[in-house]
Amino acid sequence: MKKTLIITGGAGFIGSHVVRLFVKKYPQYRVVNLDKLTYAGNLENLRDIEKLPNYEFLKGDIVDGEFILDTFRKIQPDGIIHLAAESHVDRSISNPMDFIMTNIVGTVNLLNAARDCWKDNFSDKLFFHISTDEVYGSLGSTGHFTEETAYDPHSPYSASKAGSDHLVRAYHDTFGLPAVITNCSNNYGPNQFPEKLIPLFINNIKNNKPLPVYGEGINVRDWLFVEDHAAAIDLVFHKGKPGETYNIGGNNEWKNIDLIRKICGIMDNRLNRNPGTSEKLITFIKDRAGHDLRYAIDSSKIKNELGWAPSLMFEEGIEKTIDWYLNNQEWLNHVLSGDYEKYYEKQYSNR
Ligand code: NAD
Ligand code: TYD
Repeated sequence: MKKTLIITGGAGFIGSHVVRLFVKKYPQYRVVNLDKLTYAGNLENLRDIEKLPNYEFLKGDIVDGEFILDTFRKIQPDGIIHLAAESHVDRSISNPMDFIMTNIVGTVNLLNAARDCWKDNFSDKLFFHISTDEVYGSLGSTGHFTEETAYDPHSPYSASKAGSDHLVRAYHDTFGLPAVITNCSNNYGPNQFPEKLIPLFINNIKNNKPLPVYGEGINVRDWLFVEDHAAAIDLVFHKGKPGETYNIGGNNEWKNIDLIRKICGIMDNRLNRNPGTSEKLITFIKDRAGHDLRYAIDSSKIKNELGWAPSLMFEEGIEKTIDWYLNNQEWLNHVLSGDYEKYYEKQYSNR
């Protein structure tokens, strides 16, 4: 069946993997990647698919309500997969307002445009909102987040995502908008901006720079390989039930310090350094404000109802990820120097 999709935030880390999956797997779909290209949006992530006939890129800001309305009227999407967001907790602590604007106002603009475009005739339409497990707050040393866990966000990032989740549910309950939400745990893999833990530390180890560990490194995250998240998004988009929420997680909890030591060990091996060399770069720093202790996802609903499970063991995923960053130094150089921002001008300025 033919479909037109708008994927927001498709130039970012997870979005680029989702765009690639949909463009390649569904040649009959028209896939429009709508992205503002903030510091986190990098079209080089999609170099390999940008010439495919079912892919289009549209530069735009979801905070601009008129632009979004106009775009929806022109494109007439059947589905929205909404990943555009400000996504880094540390940035949300230093500048919360960008998070409120993009994550909350931007989401409402998309919801309004979807209603307008679909004229409240919602058959075969879907608004798919991608969210995070961070909306549920922090766990103690036991237990898991389920879809019924009450929201309890602590950072401006997670609070803004919680706000957007509530609004998506409100549009479903109030206007009947067919909407589905997924809340996923921490992703890792190729193409992640090196401000997040894993790519930052790989790059620092390579360059013999300190590894700044918050607090005592005892916080726990549940890590999922990004392509497994993209596969879950594909499944929920096609088989998920409107009105439902699905938690997605790797069943793969790591205390930060253990994960960092693991990465150090693999890096020593890859860089032919003596065992223990990279660990010497670990530097404990003042804890992050409002730092959630532990996230852990119960993904039995998506497993039982839709048949999803992570495909990659963590050992394989983390080695694959480290090798990707080591083998893609040009990508990393462009990101670190800001040169990737010129790619759009070069590729798209005369279109
Ligand atoms: P990212 O920061 O790598 O990418 C975000 C993308 O959104 C970028 O391409 C950016 O240019 C675009 N964008 C930002 N503001 C925009 C705006 N105003 N208008 C249009 N585009 C804009 O983020 P990510 O890690 O790929 O996360 C994608 C989504 O998944 C987010 O909604 C995030 O909350 C969610 N999520 C992320 C994780 C994770 O571990 N990274 C886990 C669970 C959920
Ligand atoms: P991060 O990748 O920022 O993801 P999130 O905060 O959304 O979970 O951080 C993952 C964990 O690593 C988190 O507990 C904070 C910690 N961390 C550090 O200790 N040092 C760092 O420099 C970064 C970026 C994160």
